[in-house]
Amino acid sequence: MEFARRVQELPPYLFAEISRKIAAKRAQGIEVVSFGIGDPDLPTPPHIIAALQRAAEEPANHRYPETEGLPELRQAMADWYERRYGLSFDPAKEVLPLIGSKEGIGHVALCFIDPGDTALQPDPAYPVYAVGTMFACGHTYTLPLDEEGGWLPDLEAVPADVAHRARVLWLNYPNNPTGAVADREFFERAVAFARKYDIAVLHDLAYSDVTYDGYDAPSFMQAKGAREVGIEFSSLSKTYNMTGWRLGTAVGNAGMIDALMRVKSNLDSGIPQAIQQMGIAALRGPQDAVAEHNAVYQARRDRVVTAMRQIGLRCTPPRASLYVWAQIPAGETSIGFAGRLLDDTGVVVTPGIGYGEQGEGYVRLSLTTPDTAIDEGLRRLAAWRSEAAKA
Ligand code: MLT
Repeated sequence: MEFARRVQELPPYLFAEISRKIAAKRAQGIEVVSFGIGDPDLPTPPHIIAALQRAAEEPANHRYPETEGLPELRQAMADWYERRYGLSFDPAKEVLPLIGSKEGIGHVALCFIDPGDTALQPDPAYPVYAVGTMFACGHTYTLPLDEEGGWLPDLEAVPADVAHRARVLWLNYPNNPTGAVADREFFERAVAFARKYDIAVLHDLAYSDVTYDGYDAPSFMQAKGAREVGIEFSSLSKTYNMTGWRLGTAVGNAGMIDALMRVKSNLDSGIPQAIQQMGIAALRGPQDAVAEHNAVYQARRDRVVTAMRQIGLRCTPPRASLYVWAQIPAGETSIGFAGRLLDDTGVVVTPGIGYGEQGEGYVRLSLTTPDTAIDEGLRRLAAWRSEAAKA
């Protein structure tokens, strides 16, 4: 049987591949410590689980959900934006619940990209942006990010002919994998760029509330004129430890939201309603857990950064996101380094090349590893380093 070219050319999803390697090591009896996927180890807060339990008993929730989401959920999402950012969105036209932000991010290319069209995206970046473009038979033009540039794209450097051809610009701050942040002024430059070239801005705000040292992550939608050119994807996954429940949000330009809704409603049947009730409980309920979780991640961040520096990897403590982005020794590839680490110590890190060519020379460590496993992982890394120093 011959599969479509898009499937033949599709690389395995980065974290599916890493899970496979972890499973293979465990099958050999090796105890793996994973700093791989950003998947909160702390449980979903109890009041959110209680909402699911109540909703599961309700026969109305056993039927097809509405693809566009319960009006109460759309309202709760709009109210969250009002409280969090002082922005008002019309819940009927400017807000769309998603089956996790990854679902909307994957589907949105179908709204803008016709075969041969160009999408601008940073490198390194969350791999789903490029895969969505590829599924829509478009081309990705990458905007290289680097440490000197604060891991922000230089929009001025995009050649005018490329910008004229481009249909979308992907942005993501706080950034995965680098942990970099952007300010409102940067978002305003992105709006000006999008207006000049008639490009849709797609901003991924998955880490809006995973922040440290008092940092407050802005929304792209706060930039003047953002609503004319863009939409923003946010997620309940990382804020409320809800990766397993799949709930995300798109807000912004009404025409763009409508296009995404039309694509989605032809492909999925919406979010199970009991899970939508969890979303309402999360967004409307007590928010204390958010700061509590960030305190846990911040303490882990500090330990991981110190440990990375002790083993000779350069890194800057991130002000947001779940990730430490560490530079590996010159002359090694990130796949080679991550593979050596796994074989020698059973510790998993994500190779930077998995996020694009500019990610080469770096590895990413997620802070969603339980504290006891962090103790063990860092102990193994220190022992590994001192063995290497003796050799
Ligand atoms: C990550 O670790 O980058 C994400 O949590 C993985 C994902 O969303 O697939």
